[in-house]
Amino acid sequence: MASPQLHDLAIVGLGVMGENLALNFRRQGFAVSGFDVDEGKRERFAQRTGGSAPRSLQELAGALRTPRVLLLMVPAGAAVDAVLQDLRPWLAAGDIVIDGGNTRYTDTERRLAELQHVGILFVGAGVSGGEEGALNGPAIMPGGAPDAWPRIRPLLQAIAARAEDGQPCCEWMGPGAAGHYVKMVHNGIEYADMQVLCEAYFLMQELLGMSPREMSEVFAQWNRGELASYLVGITADILTRVDPETGRPLVDLIVDTAEQKGTGKWASQAALDLGVTAPTIAEAVFARTVSAVREQRAQAAQVLAGPAREFQGDRAAFVQVIERALLAAKVCAYAQGFGLLAAADQEYGWQLPMGTIAATWRAGCIIRAKLLEDIRGAYARDPKLANLMLAPHFADVMAGSHGALREVVASAARNGIAIPAFMSALAYYDAYRSQRLPANLLQAQRDYFGAHTYQRLDRPGKFHTKWNEERRD
Ligand code: 6PG
Repeated sequence: MASPQLHDLAIVGLGVMGENLALNFRRQGFAVSGFDVDEGKRERFAQRTGGSAPRSLQELAGALRTPRVLLLMVPAGAAVDAVLQDLRPWLAAGDIVIDGGNTRYTDTERRLAELQHVGILFVGAGVSGGEEGALNGPAIMPGGAPDAWPRIRPLLQAIAARAEDGQPCCEWMGPGAAGHYVKMVHNGIEYADMQVLCEAYFLMQELLGMSPREMSEVFAQWNRGELASYLVGITADILTRVDPETGRPLVDLIVDTAEQKGTGKWASQAALDLGVTAPTIAEAVFARTVSAVREQRAQAAQVLAGPAREFQGDRAAFVQVIERALLAAKVCAYAQGFGLLAAADQEYGWQLPMGTIAATWRAGCIIRAKLLEDIRGAYARDPKLANLMLAPHFADVMAGSHGALREVVASAARNGIAIPAFMSALAYYDAYRSQRLPANLLQAQRDYFGAHTYQRLDRPGKFHTKWNEERRD
């Protein structure tokens, strides 16, 4: 009897993402099997993909080509540890396990160390693009045990999205937790990007009194220019949608609170831990937390004073100002994200390929945008760029757009409209380009109450002044 065909890889966790990735692998000619503890999902997988979905991990592992490749698509957290524990008895040294979830990078570091002991090659891979991306081509950011890469490269690059130049949006990010770290930073930028778009919408609605339909046209137009990106495109689309029951724009019927799964928060925490200035990413997280206290906001709206709103001026011209301001804020958010990558690189020694990271984000992922080709170019020219804004191209972009950012921030401040991501982007830009900041006074304050010492401009060393003593001057 002929032995059954061995599978090229198996997917564990057959939610929509797992199932769509399986369909994508099959389309590329790979034999894929799947496993899920849920029998219904196994049946659905077998029906939808035509692949086998055995009832046990033992059977699953037994029917894989060796060294085995398993892709975990289970919710990040305890479920990953549970699957790894159940899988261990059926794996051998040299087998490869890829965690394709939005896992916190510190968990990936821990799992790598645990599995290294038993010779299993563990890979933490960021996968971006949602359900549609999984089916038609996601961006994939793998990192971990380097020996796994030659074996998984043809598999992952085959299913990944392709950039305009034909390059697959999947490259090796580095050892350790590099892959999941890069995905976390991607999500931090995603948070900031989404928030500035929401703030642009908010300004057009609150200050200019525009309807969702009118705003949709604006976003669609922006999507044909320098701001062209997936998120601008879906925003234009969302704003056209009408609720069939009420006939009203659907966006107007959606509650103004946003949830989060944690990746933006982790990116902000990483920024604080590594001493990286990433305020626009953090503000995007806080914008979600303040949105969540909806009842308090309703009360506060009755109690707390603010200015009356009025717009005098040319509405169409102001829409163009918002477009330029968006560009400036986006560059600031990317600069912060890449700053976070550079700091992690220093800390963990991953040798993160900055230009390649930008190249990988050009298609398939949620933050895909025209801008990324220029970011790729900037890092290709200077991989050690201290800040994206210092690249000549982006210094020019900021020179041409910071004025618009100021105008937008000033108008919002005057009219009491909350646009924290725009405001933080401007503060970030101005702080970064300030030769002198008021931290001299801060040093003195710390020394005053805590004898923390200070440094001087005119001579080296640490100094302390007995500030409370009677003055001799
Ligand atoms: C992606 C997305 C994806 C997911 C986010 C949503 O790159 O495909 O980032 O991973 O949509 O996790 O995150 P929040 O629930 O925190 O908004």
